Amino acid sequence: MDLTVDEREMLSGRDGRAVKKSMEILTALGEIYGAKRLVDVASVQIAGVSYDNLGDAGLEFLDEMARDGKVKVFTTLNPAGMDLLDWKALGIDEGFARKQKMVIEAFAKMGVVTTCTCTPYFVGNEPRPGQHVSWSESSAVCYANSILGARTNREGGPSALAAALTGKTPEYGYHLDEARQPAITVQVEARLEDIVDFGALGSVIGKKIGNAVAYIVGIERATLDQLKSFCASIATYGGTALFHMRGITPEPVSAPETRVSVSTEEIERAKAEMDGSGRVDFVAIGCPHCSLGELEEIARLLRGRKVKRETWIAVARPVKEQAERVGVLGPIEHAGAKCAADTCFVVAPLRGRFKCMATNSAKAVFYARSKNQFETVYAPLEKLIDIATS
Ligand code: F3S
Repeated sequence: MDLTVDEREMLSGRDGRAVKKSMEILTALGEIYGAKRLVDVASVQIAGVSYDNLGDAGLEFLDEMARDGKVKVFTTLNPAGMDLLDWKALGIDEGFARKQKMVIEAFAKMGVVTTCTCTPYFVGNEPRPGQHVSWSESSAVCYANSILGARTNREGGPSALAAALTGKTPEYGYHLDEARQPAITVQVEARLEDIVDFGALGSVIGKKIGNAVAYIVGIERATLDQLKSFCASIATYGGTALFHMRGITPEPVSAPETRVSVSTEEIERAKAEMDGSGRVDFVAIGCPHCSLGELEEIARLLRGRKVKRETWIAVARPVKEQAERVGVLGPIEHAGAKCAADTCFVVAPLRGRFKCMATNSAKAVFYARSKNQFETVYAPLEKLIDIATS
């Protein structure tokens, strides 16, 4: 790779061990993927924050990097394994909480903004079109590339941290124009009503075309909440980091001749496959983390009701604080639902605690089954609130 003088000096250890290690990670990645150079990044989002996923080996790596590493660009975190303030209310044990706090402290020592969310674009980490960033949460990567028009590969936790400590990332993959061109046109013939439909669509397309860049046509309109759900789903089921949607996403591209279509029957089949018949003991909303608009809708549906099953609503802490200021949090908490900030029901240590999880997220269905062996019920928000309160 063609490194600048400054980059060479970072690699040789001028700025300390963490920066040297980071440059080693980035140049090794660049060599593997044929990058010609490093580019500056505007922001970083780091996944691999939950102690449930990191374990002691991950914590040791972070402590090592935190000895002399300091971030050079605005950097936020993916959800942690617990609400950093109200972890007891979520049933997290002390031993786990102690380790999780050590993880967060290591990031804080490096200057990372320790807001833990998979929706960094709701909390100020919102790159502009064309900007290079280094993000690692798969749904956020897909959102950054597709909806915001920024440029990032699907980074791992260590390579994103390396980008944060150097302000650089190797220029390959989705940083380059050629990799951002669509390879296949996906004609959506189904009418999509709500988030559950968009989640199902993501699973159908993801399974059909894998991680090929799709040019999706046939969707007339979509809300940002529907798109964030779609991003999470297509990234989970297909490994997708970028798609284009005619009339909706910002990059001008033309339709490839290779075509596939998605029918209403396929969407219905996907929904039925995710929607089991177990007895729900856990209602999980907010994958990806809820927007303020979604919290308003939940508050409206919960007003005057009480939840009778464990119900978590996952959210970024700044969004929870906003909700409190505008009077939306009160009705949710008054109903007995737990507004779980900083975390989510996939990265929290929940194995063995529940048997059947109801959710409106296709991504959450995937991980509830594969990681936690829960049965799942897949239903729109109104039905979830009916289940939670019955
Ligand atoms: Fe976010 Fe957790 Fe879902 S990180 S996308 S809420 S699995």
